[in-house]
Amino acid sequence: MSAPPPDTLRINLQFPLADGRTLVRPAHGGSRTAPPETLQIDFKFPTADGRTLVQGPLTYNQDGLATQHNAEFMRDPRFVEAYRVGMENGYPGTRIEWRVHVALWCASQAVLLQGDFVECGVNTGILSGAVMTWLDFARLAPRRFFLFDTWAGIPVEQMSAEEKRLGVPDMNVKYQNGDVLYAGVQQKFARWPNAVVVRGRVPEALEAMRESQHVAYASIDLNVAEAEMAAADFLWPRMVSGGLMLLDDYGWASHINQKHAWDDWAARHGVMILALPTGQALIRKP
Ligand SMILES: C[S@@+](CC[C@H](N)C(=O)[O-])C[C@H]1O[C@@H](n2cnc3c(N)ncnc32)[C@H](O)[C@@H]1O
Repeated sequence: MSAPPPDTLRINLQFPLADGRTLVRPAHGGSRTAPPETLQIDFKFPTADGRTLVQGPLTYNQDGLATQHNAEFMRDPRFVEAYRVGMENGYPGTRIEWRVHVALWCASQAVLLQGDFVECGVNTGILSGAVMTWLDFARLAPRRFFLFDTWAGIPVEQMSAEEKRLGVPDMNVKYQNGDVLYAGVQQKFARWPNAVVVRGRVPEALEAMRESQHVAYASIDLNVAEAEMAAADFLWPRMVSGGLMLLDDYGWASHINQKHAWDDWAARHGVMILALPTGQALIRKP
């Protein structure tokens, strides 16, 4: 079948009949080369300035990201295994492969440096579980992977009035079953002796890694600006040159307060934030 022009979205509607008959189709139902059980409709979306809109076949269309770019990484058996472990205890229907791919890339850079790994905001441990599987983290001891979470949701007192207005408290609905989540995470991370699971509020809980002076990888996913800023201030002096800080929420509309806080923080620290199409963002320690 010939490809549609770049300004055209082609939709194939299939009407297969069990007995093999073919339905009557309009004479101008699209390409003459379409199979007989298919009604092919071309929608044209020409843009005045000649740009091409993203259209099918889409290789990835979830988690706020639709693209026709190559997503072969999802078929790499090493990725499949890392993602599978990351998703253990996960919420049914969650699909965040491209975010995990970004985290794995960051971890692959960070492991070439000296220093511990940290995640602030672990929940069921999708990103951290995938990273630890990807790197076979047990073999990296005495390096540690510190995992911080209240396993009781975002502390309400850390939410600004604006965050409350934007619905951040609603996110806590998902984090209510904290003791069960925590038990699941303890079990999940027990396979790595150098995983340090710390239940407590960031920033106070970060005291558990006070003696760790070198950090190569920090994943920040707390969904609330005040705690993320406190985590940044604690971790930044410990981050080694080339170390990566991965922000999970930067691009999402409901997290605009975190984005603004990070933008101010980056300006104060003279670093540029790389905004990623996954909604994540990346900061490299100079
Ligand atoms: C989006 S989830 C983290 C998801 C996780 N990164 C993953 O890969 O599955 C956000 C988590 O941050 C935790 N959290 C929010 N504020 C916190 C704080 N001040 N201290 C510790 N944990 C916090 C919540 O309990 C929640 O589990």
